[in-house]
Amino acid sequence: EKGGYEWFMAKEIQEQPQAVADTLLGRTGESGELVLDELRISEAQLRNVDRITFVACGTAAYAGMVAKYAIERWTRIPVEVALAHEFRYCDPIADERTLVVSISQSGETMDTLMAVKHARDLGALTVSICNTHGATIPRESDAVLYTHAGPEVAVASTKGFLAQITACYLLGLYLAQLRGESYADDARVVLGELQEMPDRITEVLDRLDRVREIAHFMADTRSVLFLGRHVGFPIALEGALKLKELAYIHAEGFAAGELKHGPIALIEPGQPVFIVVPGPDTPHGLHGKVVSNIQEIRARGARTIVIAQDGDTAVEPFADEVIRVPRTSPMLQPLLTAVPLQVFAMELANAKGLDVDQPRNLAKSVTVE
Ligand code: M6R
Repeated sequence: EKGGYEWFMAKEIQEQPQAVADTLLGRTGESGELVLDELRISEAQLRNVDRITFVACGTAAYAGMVAKYAIERWTRIPVEVALAHEFRYCDPIADERTLVVSISQSGETMDTLMAVKHARDLGALTVSICNTHGATIPRESDAVLYTHAGPEVAVASTKGFLAQITACYLLGLYLAQLRGESYADDARVVLGELQEMPDRITEVLDRLDRVREIAHFMADTRSVLFLGRHVGFPIALEGALKLKELAYIHAEGFAAGELKHGPIALIEPGQPVFIVVPGPDTPHGLHGKVVSNIQEIRARGARTIVIAQDGDTAVEPFADEVIRVPRTSPMLQPLLTAVPLQVFAMELANAKGLDVDQPRNLAKSVTVE
């Protein structure tokens, strides 16, 4: 069933273009508008929403963090991301105008399920973004938006994650459409460009040889840092989580702007640092700010492994390695930049002789609190 691959994870990484394509499939109408009838929450109720809270754990929560940037921009509705196990116990604020969106690949994660039940008790509208048909969380929710990534077997989530980001974006664009928001220009672009993402992801997959080599060189590494900014920040967190769970290496993800508030003290000669660089056209000059961060840490001896868009030459003077991804609009970058980090963690685990599909101490779905 591994289809000729050594591990399910390798297979599932390769299936990511299809996972995204299938999640998009059949969800746009003839004139390009989004059609999400399956949501089965009345348009009036959705128009009434004045707060969105994502509840999820682990990688699924990072999908929510990515989506927060996009959905707030497109809908102007405040979005919060809560770890499901914290949500329940923090006396959360939610009522019938709150849309609580759970994200869960398995649909069986106990922490997330209990958060959904709690949200319902508070009167919130609950939507489940889930990859498993008929699982408990979608059954306990008012509505469901399935991701169509196909079964994910490896403990480490990969195609599930990209499909979750895709589904969250569909939900955000749909809410913007419903509410008649004059789409921010980038939302229009994203809607069209989303359809092209499967091809872009395939391009990333076709150029990962160097990442594999780097992983094999780094088999003895004890600590790796990941930096990102804006939608690249949750991707940095995801890169670190993958490395922890698969290769048992201490890893931390940071928002690049946070460096000078503490983490830069960790930089010593030879410290490997991955940097997810926003595209040069990202608003607010964020690209330049991250390039400065790379320069700062390189000056302190960091070994910089930079993930940057094609044509971004500004990073080159400060990069020990550059991993290239195709150009996209800023909100869509996570669908590309996550991929080399998945492959890096998988190959490092392999280089250390570890069980890629079934890391120690972990289960595919965490059905206990
Ligand atoms: O099935 P779920 O999406 O609810 O699982 C949530 C997390 O347990 C899961 O994403 C976990 O963090 C993965 N092993 C990460 O690769």
